[in-house]
Amino acid sequence: MSQRTLVLLKPDAVRRGLVGEIIGRIERKAGWRITALELRELDQETLEQHYGEHRGKPFYEPLVAFMASGPVVALVVEGERVIEGVRALAGPTDPIAAAPGSIRGDYGTIVRENLIHASDSEESAERELKIFFPGR
Ligand code: PPS
Repeated sequence: MSQRTLVLLKPDAVRRGLVGEIIGRIERKAGWRITALELRELDQETLEQHYGEHRGKPFYEPLVAFMASGPVVALVVEGERVIEGVRALAGPTDPIAAAPGSIRGDYGTIVRENLIHASDSEESAERELKIFFPGR
């Protein structure tokens, strides 16, 4: 089943020069393709829309502050089961729990700075793609 997902390479990935490495892993998956890509700074409104479901959780404010601390790379990736697939490439939220070979397992440090966001369901992907790439 071909799908679309929103991927964000977080400010730590950009600061640490890991953008090429992470995008390379996505590109090497047979049958997936990047159909939009943009380096951008995220304003408060965009972040509140994107992370609205987590408002009130203890990690919300630090997460939003971190995501506004520098540019991110936003991508649309399309392909077979890409929603589940990019999350598998990323590994679990907590880098300590992430296996070697996953992006977070190889490069992650702490939970907040976990390098990559990827939509977690078709509904999330649709909602998030509208926020980041309206009209696509
Ligand atoms: S939840 O409550 O299970 O839905 O949360 P989870 O899916 O694990 O995480 C949602 C996003 O919040 C980020 N997160 C954190 N940021 C900072 N500090 C802490 N402690 C923390 N815990 C979770 C997590 O990376 C997710 O961000 P995205 O951008 O969606 O990957």
